[in-house]
Amino acid sequence: MDYWSALEVYKEMLLLYCEKARQYVNSQCADLEPWQIIAATLLLTVGAVRAKAFLFQQESLTSRIKKQAFRLIRKIPFIGSSIQKKLNKALDDMSVSVCTLKEGMSYTKLLPAQGLTQKQVLDSIRQYQTLNEVQWTKGKVSGAVYWGDEKLTELLVKVYGEFAWSNPLHPDIFPGVRKMEAEVVRMACTLFNGGPESCGTVTSGGTESILMACKAYRDMAYERGIKHPEIIAPISVHAAFDKAAHYFGMKLIHIPLEKKTMKVDVKAMKRAISKNTAMLVCSAPQFPHGIVDPIVEVGKLAERYNIPFHVDACLGGFLIVFMEKAGFKLEPFDFRVKGVTSISADTHKYGYAPKGSSVVLYSDKKYRHYQFFVAPDWQGGIYASPSMAGSRPGGIIAACWATMMHMGENGYVDATRKVVQTTRTIAAGLRKIEGIFVFGNPEVSVVAIGSDDFDVFRLSNALTSKGWNLNTLQFPSSIHICVTMRHTMPGVAEHFINDVKEGVAVIMKNPKEKTTGMGAIYGMAQTIPDRSLVTEISCGFLDCLYSTEVPKVQKNHHTSKRNHMNGSSKTH
Ligand SMILES: *Cc1c(COP(=O)(O)O)cnc(C)c1O
Ligand SMILES: *[C@@H]1O[C@H](CO)[C@@H](O)[C@H](O)[C@H]1NC(C)=O
Repeated sequence: MDYWSALEVYKEMLLLYCEKARQYVNSQCADLEPWQIIAATLLLTVGAVRAKAFLFQQESLTSRIKKQAFRLIRKIPFIGSSIQKKLNKALDDMSVSVCTLKEGMSYTKLLPAQGLTQKQVLDSIRQYQTLNEVQWTKGKVSGAVYWGDEKLTELLVKVYGEFAWSNPLHPDIFPGVRKMEAEVVRMACTLFNGGPESCGTVTSGGTESILMACKAYRDMAYERGIKHPEIIAPISVHAAFDKAAHYFGMKLIHIPLEKKTMKVDVKAMKRAISKNTAMLVCSAPQFPHGIVDPIVEVGKLAERYNIPFHVDACLGGFLIVFMEKAGFKLEPFDFRVKGVTSISADTHKYGYAPKGSSVVLYSDKKYRHYQFFVAPDWQGGIYASPSMAGSRPGGIIAACWATMMHMGENGYVDATRKVVQTTRTIAAGLRKIEGIFVFGNPEVSVVAIGSDDFDVFRLSNALTSKGWNLNTLQFPSSIHICVTMRHTMPGVAEHFINDVKEGVAVIMKNPKEKTTGMGAIYGMAQTIPDRSLVTEISCGFLDCLYSTEVPKVQKNHHTSKRNHMNGSSKTH
């Protein structure tokens, strides 16, 4: 039997089945009246539409079922109330530990009826400064203040003073600030090897830069007819992408890392690409372990599938662009890589500008247009604004501009050499310590420590007791130090390595001992299956930050010391 006659046979069989099915359905409907058939069809259609809406939502079905299950558990009489009790205790403990005041201090809750004199104001801010306990100036803190040089501070205060009242929302009134912002963006584009069409905006920080890129690509996706745009990003990517997905109704698909290198698994990234993909993301470097993702390879994916590709260089952007000149090799990461359509870089991190500034850059103006917002019909006039904010602090833009101009290429290259060299010294020193390991090959400024022998959060505790303030990471448990100019001061790196060595030596005498204190809390937080509990506690933490009540425990403590809180603070 040849191919064609076989096909004929199949065709005949198919027709036969169709005929059988038709007869069957008709016989089943023989006793039904037409209205019944119409009603059943309608119901089935509505049911199918409902079912589809239920099954395919922004949040996956499993995630929703899980949440619902945990919600039910918390309604079970005994278990629910015992969870609530533990939660309340955790919240109380936190309010005591986070929001402590020194003896005799109280909160201001009313405007002073008579304004303070300038001298009184300056005197009273001293009291606020005495609350600092962590000494960032001595280089004991990971990240946070990337330089904070005193001479630079003097300059910035002057420049801020000159532009304190300026607002780039009114370029006609403040043309100087407009010029400065345009220049900051252009200088940054040049640093990242953008072409003549490259462009960008200044934003209030890394998060806003990331939000803006995601918003631009979401709107592009909408235009292409994608109803549920997806961000494909490594699991190590900054939480600002979760925030963007949440704010802009996108779905974030997390791609796992290669275990050994901690770089994103490009094959898995490729598999995740679908018709809904709005953008790809890599970090240079990522925050947790300081690893630069394989940008060249992902760039190829972006080109091949014609998907926008954002490189998050918020953390290390103003280091990596100077690394070659500082004598450190790095794979290409900027607009030279075909496929890279946008980059975020924080001037307020290794740009050494004061907090509240960052840039988001695009390879082409067509992308930036999707970031802009225009309300053409507003009664207040045609309203056009480039980013999230309306009014923006011109003083901060001026201070950012001043920092870049004052640093100059030589200043940045010098600083980069110091920071990267110190990072490598620390990584090399830590690798020699038995009992811990360094994640991947940290090429820029962050070194993350893990351990196969003991709970690494015990080391975190040990270092805290020696005055260090590091970052704790989860999934997997680890701690990291983000090296800043503060750590490049003589002796700081050696001191750090030594303290780790001593801490590890003590722990290794009894590696399986239980973790206590804050370390235990970090460890426990990872094991709570109901993540909504973690969220709730974290919201309690945020509430705490705005608290102007002295915590109960502290209050009692004060009471017993005859330090009475009179009046309003008692009433609640
Ligand atoms: C700090 C950081 C951000 C976000 O920056 P913010 O200025 O804190 O909003 C984004 N990505 C990475 C890798 C970062 O380290
Ligand atoms: C507290 O109130 C009492 C009487 O109401 C008053 O005598 C005392 O001075 C007040 N103490 C403080 C610290 O305000």
